[in-house]
Amino acid sequence: MTILVTGGAGYIGSHTVRMLREQGKPVVVLDSMEFGHRAALLGAELVVGDIRDRALVTDLCRSHGVTQVVHFAAYKNVGESMLEPEKYWMNNVAGTVDLVEAMLAADVRDIVFSSSCSVYGTPESVPVHEDAPLHPESVYAESKATVERILGWYGVTKGLNSVSLRYFNAAGASIDATIGEDWALTLNLVPLVMKATLGRRGPVQVFGNDYPTPDGTCIRDYIHVDDLADAHIRALDHLANGRPSIALNVGTGVGSSVLDVFTATEHASGMTVPYEIIDRRAGDPVSSFADPSIVRSTLGWTARYDLGKIVESAWNWHSTHLDGYGD
Ligand SMILES: NC(=O)c1ccc[n+]([C@@H]2O[C@H](COP(=O)([O-])OP(=O)(O)OC[C@H]3O[C@@H](n4cnc5c(N)ncnc54)[C@H](O)[C@@H]3O)[C@@H](O)[C@H]2O)c1
Repeated sequence: MTILVTGGAGYIGSHTVRMLREQGKPVVVLDSMEFGHRAALLGAELVVGDIRDRALVTDLCRSHGVTQVVHFAAYKNVGESMLEPEKYWMNNVAGTVDLVEAMLAADVRDIVFSSSCSVYGTPESVPVHEDAPLHPESVYAESKATVERILGWYGVTKGLNSVSLRYFNAAGASIDATIGEDWALTLNLVPLVMKATLGRRGPVQVFGNDYPTPDGTCIRDYIHVDDLADAHIRALDHLANGRPSIALNVGTGVGSSVLDVFTATEHASGMTVPYEIIDRRAGDPVSSFADPSIVRSTLGWTARYDLGKIVESAWNWHSTHLDGYGD
């Protein structure tokens, strides 16, 4: 009954591992540790290795009695994916094929996959429904859309059961500030805002304030990392109950602007967010937020945390972990 969590020592994976363990579910983590942190695992069992090592994965599934997999392991830097696409085809796409083949060899048939709202590209309308056309605008996004389709074909050909969770903008840290996002390499807005507010980098660059939105800045759907973790556990239960494969949006349904994030940060920190307005950045959708009605009806999931709580948790983590995990 063990759950294998690939990439479980990373940001979203570690919060999911913690929640699974809190619910008494046996877990084993497989992580290459290229971007993972041992301290984020809070003592969960870690096997250091690569999802592309089929023999290792099959042995791991057999020796631990693995029945389901949550698959976070991937590269996620959109800009890098355009400069070094091969890394993304090999790790995100070919790596997932290796993982699934190794699972099937051990007779493991349930997988929950980390997809992304980036599969929609610039949405034609908001809120974004799962029926919206997929228009990936980067190699990274294409790697996610491709894996979703590959998992679908494994369903047809080999009886694999999958839930692809299309996350909107993951943010925040555990409410007790024990684990969070290591900001060393991140490109996400919330940790960059925290870093700037704490004087650990220069002002936040805002890419345009003349968009057709109420305050002129781009709108995104920020989703708390523990709400994401909860969605994964419900997706595992969905598959364990024999329910069908599906792709689901995981967002709050509420759009927040860049300036809304600054306001929430100033409220949480009592400090001023230093920022500068610069030119628009090519390829930034004006507005993207989820229609979460299908995830609600399918998994019984709703987001518990709003932007204020997301930013407060991020502040509590970053302001007490200025060097991240320090590794
Ligand atoms: N962070 C976001 O906002 C966001 C949004 C949408 C989707 N996602 C997806 O969610 C997943 C997790 O994201 P995250 O933010 O936690 O990233 P992360 O980089 O913190 O975690 C990924 C983990 O996977 C490990 N890993 C990478 N390649 C591996 C391999 N071949 N074998 C074993 N381990 C490997 C890394 O060492 C790392 O610990 C990724 O698939 C990412 O594409 C993230």
